[in-house]
Amino acid sequence: MACNGNPYRSIEAEVIDVITETPTIKTIRFEPKESISFKTGQFVEITIPGVGEAPFTPSSRPDEKDIMEVTVMKVGKVTDKVHELKKGDTIGVRGPTGKGYPIDKFKNKEILVVGGGCGLAPIRSLMYVLFDRIKEFKQVFYRAGCKNPKEFLYKNEINGWSKKDDLNLRLTVDKGDDSWKGNVGVVTTILDDVKMDYKNGIAVVCGPPIAMKFSTLKLLEMGFKDDNIYLSMEKNMSCGIGKCGHCRLGIYYACKDGPVFTYAQIKDFENIWD
Ligand SMILES: Cc1cc2nc3c(=O)[nH]c(=O)nc-3n(C[C@H](O)[C@H](O)[C@H](O)COP(=O)(O)OP(=O)(O)OC[C@H]3O[C@@H](n4cnc5c(N)ncnc54)[C@H](O)[C@@H]3O)c2cc1C
Ligand code: FES
Repeated sequence: MACNGNPYRSIEAEVIDVITETPTIKTIRFEPKESISFKTGQFVEITIPGVGEAPFTPSSRPDEKDIMEVTVMKVGKVTDKVHELKKGDTIGVRGPTGKGYPIDKFKNKEILVVGGGCGLAPIRSLMYVLFDRIKEFKQVFYRAGCKNPKEFLYKNEINGWSKKDDLNLRLTVDKGDDSWKGNVGVVTTILDDVKMDYKNGIAVVCGPPIAMKFSTLKLLEMGFKDDNIYLSMEKNMSCGIGKCGHCRLGIYYACKDGPVFTYAQIKDFENIWD
């Protein structure tokens, strides 16, 4: 457990940059007063003094211990204030908490990463790890979608990834515009050309609940096994450390046992996509 063993202790951090990614999403780059290590897929609680705290999965490199980034969609009380942050402001960081992606289990496998909307934030952190360890995997496929070209997170960076020989990448938008030359349609429309050994492959899915649901159904239809589909479940949270029960998911607490679960772990519970 981070924060010197006290899971409730928040570390002060200075905002060092604010990047406007899309009309509704900003990336906050900050420097905690004490270095924080996390595993890709784990989350931190960000505190805005006088307002409250909310969970976010770092979108930055896990090996960058002195600087962290979270990419935040503006949806309410805390995230509105996150969007008002400026360079030099102070925030709090608690965690990291939860279980990240079990990268060692992906060794010698083909991996399909499927992301959408704000789900591309945790996935960016995962991709950094996959790129660093690329020789350990048979092949990596990246399929991502957003509502429209303006809402595409990390557009320039992802365009750079498209030149990588060791990554099979395709992007889509629900609705195109004059600037968009790629596929138009939801993210499941760009899964058909993923040619791999589905039965033994790994799939990682992160995005809005509706995209996670239909991507998972498509992956099952393609032949992926329940226990090879990894889902990042963003349930409503409060304590973030398995004490309050807010994030209950069947027999699990999403904060402590997740937020990354295999579909096999959670498929029999009610309302998993709510
Ligand atoms: C493990 C985890 C990782 C997350 N990572 C990211 C991330 O990287 N980037 C990002 O933008 N968001 C992320 N979220 C969602 C983020 O935590 C919520 O958007 C945030 O808590 C909303 O707080 P608020 O005070 O601004 O909104 P509120 O004023 O509390 O609510 C506004 C709306 O958001 C909904 N909402 C509130 N809390 C959550 C929640 N925890 N999850 C989903 N919907 C919620 C409410 O139902 C309401 O409709 C993550 C959530 C979890 C649980
Ligand atoms: S948020 Fe309190 S138990 Fe998960």
